[in-house]
Amino acid sequence: MGLLEAVLRSPTWRQRLWAWWYPFFTRRIRDQKIDFLNYSFATSSHAPLALQPEDELNRPNLQLYAHVTAGAPWTGARVLEVSSGHGGGASYLTRTYQPLSYVGLDLNPAAVQYCEARHVVTGLTFKRGNALALPFPDRTFDLVINVEASHCYPDFPKFLQEVARVLKPQGAFYYADLRPADEVEGWLQDLTSEPALRLERMQLINPEVLAGMRLNTPRYTAMVERAFPSYLQKITLDFAGVEGSRIYNELAAGNLSYRSFRLQRL
Ligand SMILES: C[S@@+](CC[C@H](N)C(=O)[O-])C[C@H]1O[C@@H](n2cnc3c(N)ncnc32)[C@H](O)[C@@H]1O
Repeated sequence: MGLLEAVLRSPTWRQRLWAWWYPFFTRRIRDQKIDFLNYSFATSSHAPLALQPEDELNRPNLQLYAHVTAGAPWTGARVLEVSSGHGGGASYLTRTYQPLSYVGLDLNPAAVQYCEARHVVTGLTFKRGNALALPFPDRTFDLVINVEASHCYPDFPKFLQEVARVLKPQGAFYYADLRPADEVEGWLQDLTSEPALRLERMQLINPEVLAGMRLNTPRYTAMVERAFPSYLQKITLDFAGVEGSRIYNELAAGNLSYRSFRLQRL
């Protein structure tokens, strides 16, 4: 196992690494208006998502948000997105579905600052905070959303406890992330062990995520080449998940499993 893998498998070091990396990444690419930090989703099995012209550039990333939140009851909903990153998903969902309120929360202060300047949308606010200690009272939200972030957290069961705590009874949790294949069993066990949440939908989406990664490859390669010195480009292209990167190849081989879920608050 390489040093990076060892760090990523240690909960404490993993959180330290991401808490340093994401603000560094945000500061380096801030002027490129990168509104998403996920690996995307693309499929030809249903009609293309109708988008505003200004959202076309982010279609693959938006499609992941649309897939994860499919069927969510938005009308009158108070929504929390944990780990909203650069806020593109929060902005798109708030503009499209106009819930009562939408809070995007992230540990990365540079991302929160970026979002507050970039996404000025009625009903949408951003806040700095930790997924493991959500700064909200019990039973505040109707919907909680979390896209491709929980692999950073040092204590996944604690995160699920927090989601259950801030959701109202009958609220719902819309969620997606990836894990190494040998951690999937423990991941699913955690997802079915939180007593206040019931797992209702799960889908393996490796092929759709890989198709999304291929679509984003030219743009992300240009972004990395522009913002990072040559000695950091290979590792950053891996992080960005371009075609042929380690993450891409591990997903293609099934050594990483990317899944989407819906859980019901009991
Ligand atoms: C891969 S990005 C995904 C961002 C966004 N959901 C998207 O799809 O574009 C992961 C995000 O998780 C955030 N994060 C990592 N650890 C966190 C924690 N303990 N609490 C809140 N956010 C955290 C990072 O700052 C980063 O913005």
